[in-house]
Amino acid sequence: MFKRIVLLMLAAAILVPGSLFAADYAHRLEIKDMTVFWTLDGDQLQMELSAKTTGWVSIGIDPEDAMGGADIIIGAVKSGKVRIEDHFADRKRGHSSDEKLGGTNQVMDPAGNEEDGVTTISFTRLVTASEQWDKPIRTDGKTRVMFAFGTGRDSFIAGHRFRTVYDIDFVTGDAVKVK
Ligand code: HEM
Repeated sequence: MFKRIVLLMLAAAILVPGSLFAADYAHRLEIKDMTVFWTLDGDQLQMELSAKTTGWVSIGIDPEDAMGGADIIIGAVKSGKVRIEDHFADRKRGHSSDEKLGGTNQVMDPAGNEEDGVTTISFTRLVTASEQWDKPIRTDGKTRVMFAFGTGRDSFIAGHRFRTVYDIDFVTGDAVKVK
């Protein structure tokens, strides 16, 4: 019986592209052409972003002025290789890597794949902010976040085809669209 269940899971993992273990996440948010999954696990946030693009996908935590001030995690998959970076929106309509700004990349457990025009990245980060270019995830209410995905190029300086802003309670999963 157990062997049969394992075989079924493996078959599902091979047959169903994109997020392998979406069921593993506590919360799911469907946005136009993008799906966001996450689990808050103690002082860590595990997240998966999936979008209909061959370019980059991204989350920005706590934007203050348009994109400005947001703690950005951005990733893409090129020839099967995933690249996920920790950035900061050091201007209203642009961002730089924390490393370029003098900080460190706080992204843990980076993974990703690109199939049938859909790019999926997953990673873990701390709930707390480690450096001046990082923003905390609130656990006592809503956090403002922005999501976006690129036009199709893997370059992180390429602009976006889609962007949106939500207020999310990462503990309860409650999400309200702002714009
Ligand atoms: C180098 C890459 C990027 C460029 C060149 C760029 C450029 C721009 C530009 C020109 C605007 C104003 C036009 C508009 O409202 O669409 C804008 C707004 C916006 N961008 Fe970006 N962006 C970049 C990356 C990102 C990323 C990574 C995110 C999210 C994770 C993001 C989220 C947003 C949001 C939410 C807005 C609307 C802000 C508002 O009006 O409150 N952008 N961006």
